[in-house]
Amino acid sequence: MSKVLYIKANIKPEGKSRTYSISDEFINEYKKNNPNDEVITLDLYKEGIDFLRGEDLSVVFGPKNEESRNHKVLKYAYQFKEADKYVIAAPMWNLSIPAILKAYIDYISVTGITFKYTAEGPVGLCEGKKALFVSSRGGDYSNAITSNFEMEERYLRTIFAFFGIKDFKTIIAENVDVQGIDVDRIVNEAKDKSDKLAKEF
Ligand SMILES: Cc1cc2nc3c(=O)[nH]c(=O)nc-3n(C[C@H](O)[C@H](O)[C@H](O)COP(=O)(O)O)c2cc1C
Repeated sequence: MSKVLYIKANIKPEGKSRTYSISDEFINEYKKNNPNDEVITLDLYKEGIDFLRGEDLSVVFGPKNEESRNHKVLKYAYQFKEADKYVIAAPMWNLSIPAILKAYIDYISVTGITFKYTAEGPVGLCEGKKALFVSSRGGDYSNAITSNFEMEERYLRTIFAFFGIKDFKTIIAENVDVQGIDVDRIVNEAKDKSDKLAKEF
């Protein structure tokens, strides 16, 4: 039985968010294919994820013990570490991820939990886990020139690799804000990909 952490980072609610329409499709199909797995939904806005504050640093870099498990920052790092699979749903905002998702990553990047420092440099502590990133974007970042501006998927893929998670898949609906484009077709294609991937994720 696997534990799936479904991380949601959008101010738009279900029913309005194109990203969530794709990621929810994936989660529903995944549940059908894996009825015994546990899916934990973590909506970062509902959770009220804050910025890392000065007073948090001593805990983030301090000893990791039973007491630290319930700390308001560290509890997210422990929860992340305890999951086997991750589904991250976020739209592209200003070429990158919404700030609340970056704030969450600052919460879970904790030495001694998700990575550690060694004489050879940092080493991820989440090896063997897998991730899926679901997003939608107003424009197209898939060609040789525009892909240089894309700091959403590239950042998440890199920070997940830093945690030791190399199996990082993506389902991204691009061009959804282009005037006259058939948005439903683009979103439905992404949903079809979700249905297929949900069978083997
Ligand atoms: C604050 C904000 C910033 C955005 N920045 C970009 C951007 O840099 N590039 C882009 O292609 N689309 C951008 N968009 C458009 C969204 O990525 C696009 O509409 C997406 O489908 C929204 O997903 P949602 O329906 O799940 O909220 C931005 C939208 C918002 C609200």
